[in-house]
Amino acid sequence: MAHGTTHQHDVVIIGGGGAGLRASIAIAEENPSFSVACVSKVYPMRSHTVTAEGGAAAKIKPNDSLEDHIYDTISGADWLADQDAVEYFVNEAPAEMIQLEHWGCPWSREGDGSVAVRPFGGMKIERTWFAADKTGFHMLHSLFQTTLKYGNIVRYDEHFATRLLIDAHGRCRGCAAIELLTGRVRAILGKAVIICTGGAGRVFPFTTNGSIKTGDGMAMAYRAGVALKDMEFIQYHPTGLPGTGILITEASRGEGGILVNRDGYRYLQDYDLGEALDVTDPRHPQKRAMELGPRDRLSQCFIKEMWAGRTIETRDGHVVHLDLRHLGEAKIDRKIPFVRELSRNYAGIDPVHKPIPVRPVVHYVMGGIDVGGNSATSVPGLYAAGECACVSINGANRLGSNSLTELLVFGAQAGRHAARFAMDNPGYDVAELEAQAEDEGARIRRTWFDPSRTGGERIATLRTELHDAMEDGAGIYRDAESLQAACDKVAELRERYGNVTLDDRTHSFNTELTAALELGSLLDVAEAMAHSGLERTESRGSHQRLDHTERNDDDFLAHSLAFRREDGGPPRIEYGPVTITKWPPGARTYGAESGLKRPRGDGT
Ligand code: FUM
Repeated sequence: MAHGTTHQHDVVIIGGGGAGLRASIAIAEENPSFSVACVSKVYPMRSHTVTAEGGAAAKIKPNDSLEDHIYDTISGADWLADQDAVEYFVNEAPAEMIQLEHWGCPWSREGDGSVAVRPFGGMKIERTWFAADKTGFHMLHSLFQTTLKYGNIVRYDEHFATRLLIDAHGRCRGCAAIELLTGRVRAILGKAVIICTGGAGRVFPFTTNGSIKTGDGMAMAYRAGVALKDMEFIQYHPTGLPGTGILITEASRGEGGILVNRDGYRYLQDYDLGEALDVTDPRHPQKRAMELGPRDRLSQCFIKEMWAGRTIETRDGHVVHLDLRHLGEAKIDRKIPFVRELSRNYAGIDPVHKPIPVRPVVHYVMGGIDVGGNSATSVPGLYAAGECACVSINGANRLGSNSLTELLVFGAQAGRHAARFAMDNPGYDVAELEAQAEDEGARIRRTWFDPSRTGGERIATLRTELHDAMEDGAGIYRDAESLQAACDKVAELRERYGNVTLDDRTHSFNTELTAALELGSLLDVAEAMAHSGLERTESRGSHQRLDHTERNDDDFLAHSLAFRREDGGPPRIEYGPVTITKWPPGARTYGAESGLKRPRGDGT
């Protein structure tokens, strides 16, 4: 690896997806004279935001209210969300969505020209804005084209950030990144840094997440001493295509699709999620009920059906059927054309004529880099936003369509606050930071390019073993034994990771090196997930313990905080308070009563 060059900016953003682009626009607007570096291991339009399908939630219709959006989010989160953060999010959401329209996002419309919304899981009322079922694609294009207006946003595409650079005063002042074209390690410096690198679904074998979602930003912050918060909460989306994990959007159920088991029976009616209204009943689909229950509950129901022998066994595992036939071709083509395209291309099924085989699939990490108000981490000058961050508005289970809005609201917030930090903390010592980046380059050369290192462990072997351990140990249902086994396996894999060797020692687009670095990120993130799960001896939201089946607010109405140990030992798990403002913890009710307005604070 050649020595790199140094690049100086005012703010450095790591990650070029929705949150990173929204943050960069916020900085450019906050201080037009600022130079913003946007560092991404891919081209921005290849960021995972592009794959988002169903929509983004925000109150727009007169029959909806901010309070209902807040309540749905908090109850969906099984009361682990910070209520001040949720209020901020819900209040900011409509303006962000309208802003995006002004930047060119083609939101689908009603016949009267108003913005169309559809219901999503766990919502009292329809509030999900959409652009057919390619919402992320249109949002990302709108953000990207807007960044092009600003001459001061400098892109470092295909640069893999490997280390945060921290000055002698403990402030984050940039990153070291490998320029993938040349293999050079560059110092990309700024007065503040925002991590927007997305999630880490690739810790698991069966996921909707693109191959780039390997938790690199989470791991980088963890290594720099920032806690990873609530990492035990992994979201399984109920409807992934078997074999590939491709997402069949919740919009298909929002538009009226139903889930049936091997007997053609709508099994969700047996799980306290409401009554199965006939699909011709004008009240179908019911909000906050049946197929529009929350994702954690629907995925758990699938497992119970499987245990009862009522799922369908296929060569790609057990499935149930998502039936859209009653929607008719015209509605499918108008509202969810991508669902038809994906089902035809990847399952050989045309949903106009046949039900789609589906099964739960890892989709989202509720936890992430611990940030408080202002999207700031515990390291001065370091901010995080989007899926890599835990604010926390998602608690123990995120509501579908809150995440696209989250990346707008908190991307903008992180951008504004990072810009202000940069204005207040202007000077940094370039030589000191350059020396750190040079050290990082030397470490990479030593670790991966030393000719005497040969014949060691294979990346694919370790990654497969990690996948198996996490799927078996930290899946939809877990217990102490399975989680302990996952922790032990991750520790063993971390040890063996030190012996991984590369066959490819070239420098230009060395994809084997990229895979090795990503595996390092996955192992760090998996460690935090497995240990946080082991320590939380209760069941809440997506974290379901077979040995501790009840929610335990006395001991665990708290955020877990995993701190990395420098000696390589298991992480230290601490707990922090959950902010409760006006909505005291209550039971999560879905189904018949769920559409009723709850008086504030009655806890039901
Ligand atoms: O089903 C979906 O379209 C996913 C949306 C989300 O995760 O927010």
